[in-house]
Amino acid sequence: MTIEGRLIVTVPIVSYCHNDAFVPYDEQKCAHLKSIWGFLKMHYESSSLIMALYFANQSCDPFLARDAPCRIRTHVQYTVNATNFFDIQKTIMFSKEHNIRLVIRNTGHDYLRKSTGPGTLGIWTHHFKDIEVINYSSRYYMGKAIKIGAGVQMFKINKIMHAHNLGDYEQLASIFGLAADQILEFEILTASQSLNEDLYWTFAGGGGGTLSIVLSMTSKAHPELRTAVANLTFTNAGISQDTFFNAAKIFIIGLGLILDASKTSIWLLIESMFTITPITIPGGSKNQLQKLIDPILQTLKRDNVTYTMNPIFNITEAQLGGRLILQSLLDSSPGVIINVFQNILILKNTALLSRVSVNISRQADLITNKLLSKLERIMLGGGVYLNEADSA
Ligand SMILES: Cc1cc2nc3c(=O)[nH]c(=O)nc-3n(C[C@H](O)[C@H](O)[C@H](O)COP(=O)(O)OP(=O)(O)OC[C@H]3O[C@@H](n4cnc5c(N)ncnc54)[C@H](O)[C@@H]3O)c2cc1C
Ligand SMILES: *[C@@H]1O[C@H](CO)[C@@H](O)[C@H](O)[C@H]1NC(C)=O
Ligand SMILES: *[C@@H]1O[C@H](CO)[C@@H](O)[C@H](O)[C@H]1NC(C)=O
Ligand SMILES: *[C@@H]1O[C@H](CO)[C@@H](O)[C@H](O)[C@H]1NC(C)=O
Ligand SMILES: *[C@@H]1O[C@H](CO)[C@@H](O)[C@H](O)[C@H]1NC(C)=O
Ligand SMILES: *[C@@H]1O[C@H](CO)[C@@H](O)[C@H](O)[C@H]1NC(C)=O
Ligand SMILES: *[C@@H]1O[C@H](CO)[C@@H](O)[C@H](O)[C@H]1NC(C)=O
Ligand SMILES: *[C@@H]1O[C@H](CO)[C@@H](O)[C@H](O)[C@H]1NC(C)=O
Repeated sequence: MTIEGRLIVTVPIVSYCHNDAFVPYDEQKCAHLKSIWGFLKMHYESSSLIMALYFANQSCDPFLARDAPCRIRTHVQYTVNATNFFDIQKTIMFSKEHNIRLVIRNTGHDYLRKSTGPGTLGIWTHHFKDIEVINYSSRYYMGKAIKIGAGVQMFKINKIMHAHNLGDYEQLASIFGLAADQILEFEILTASQSLNEDLYWTFAGGGGGTLSIVLSMTSKAHPELRTAVANLTFTNAGISQDTFFNAAKIFIIGLGLILDASKTSIWLLIESMFTITPITIPGGSKNQLQKLIDPILQTLKRDNVTYTMNPIFNITEAQLGGRLILQSLLDSSPGVIINVFQNILILKNTALLSRVSVNISRQADLITNKLLSKLERIMLGGGVYLNEADSA
């Protein structure tokens, strides 16, 4: 079998930082790597780096001592830089024939190490970059749609959608449903709701990487909406822990109102920082949004808490566990939820909510048995989001 020069042999880029590695030590290159290591881009442009540092397990880490070994261990051993159906077909046949474990890698963003593994052959879909706005017509849906190659990233999709006066879903879930609810087709053998129905629902439900390889998907494209958006971040620096938590509580109590009437919020609470990134009101006005965040802003001002409105996202050392919380519980008893959140943060002060998450190096049962169980106890119904679930 040949895949026409598309095979990449993994050479950890961090080799420059170690004596015992794949290329000679290089102080300058290593310093540069360290300075950009946290950024997403260097990881999603790589065919082998692992963004979930816990699962990279220090196999080749720029911040370990120069004489620490740099090994492939947790990374893929080889990767096929696929750009068409035949690359993928040949790679699957090769791995079957030789009984080699195959993993599918897109950005390598997965929290649960599903896109990497020791001794694996990777299929890298990052360079499936075709994207096209189309008129779609089936008995399920008729209207604008967007066909997206497996390697196309959100920033690119947003740009194209905007150029066509269409909106992206990230923040529109309260109006249109989840992104998974918008998908019309997956291109594998082509699974649509009328063809290969089982495969369609498996992919829509988050079973990616276990059944087949998706080359592209086609999704409904809704008209763009004027949207009000705000970020907010504050820390516990210079204030008491009670003052800090009280301000976060004001937000959580008001969350039901934000979620009503098609509003969405992505937020995060750790012992030392609270951040909203962002609150979104599709079709809403600045005044409407202002009214929703006024209670928390007033509390922050009253208590002299300084806040900013510009967060940054990096790769992560966090390990996740997750629980979907019913809005009915939030509406009827926000106090119960707030108590549990507070207990979780007290129990483990590096825990992180709303994606309940914690650094569990050396504390493997903490998330499963101590933190998440508290949320499960107050919840009948609910569920988990597979991509941000507890890996145990
Ligand atoms: C810091 C961080 C923040 C996050 N925030 C959010 C968020 O706000 N909202 C949200 O919904 N999710 C969020 N996630 C979860 C993230 O969206 C999921 O982990 C997602 O699966 C990443 O997909 P990927 O293709 O980029 O990553 P990868 O790690 O490359 O792939 C993820 C999984 O899909 C499989 N796969 C990849 N490509 C294909 C393909 N072409 N065909 C079949 N299977 C394939 C892989 O084998 C793997 O199992 C976040 C994750 C991180 C690390
Ligand atoms: C994000 O990563 C960059 C590059 O490694 C680093 O300089 C920065 O301090 C990190 N920021 C946070 C909030 O971790
Ligand atoms: C990390 O590697 C060590 C051995 O070096 C192993 O004991 C441990 O289980 C690994 N952890 C993960 C999360 O893979
Ligand atoms: C992967 O393939 C794409 C498209 O042919 C090419 O631009 C890119 O340089 C390749 N990457 C590597 C690491 O081989
Ligand atoms: C889609 O339909 C619109 C009219 O509804 C038409 O103007 C446009 O050219 C069509 N686009 C394609 C790609 O067929
Ligand atoms: C906030 O700062 C003002 C002015 O410095 C001060 O008068 C007030 O007491 C402070 N309030 C709190 C709650 O610390
Ligand atoms: C909110 O923060 C995100 C991430 O830093 C940024 O991309 C976005 O522009 C910010 N939005 C507003 C309204 O400031
Ligand atoms: C995670 O825990 C390990 C081991 O206890 C520690 O070295 C590391 O600094 C921690 N990381 C964070 C972000 O707290």
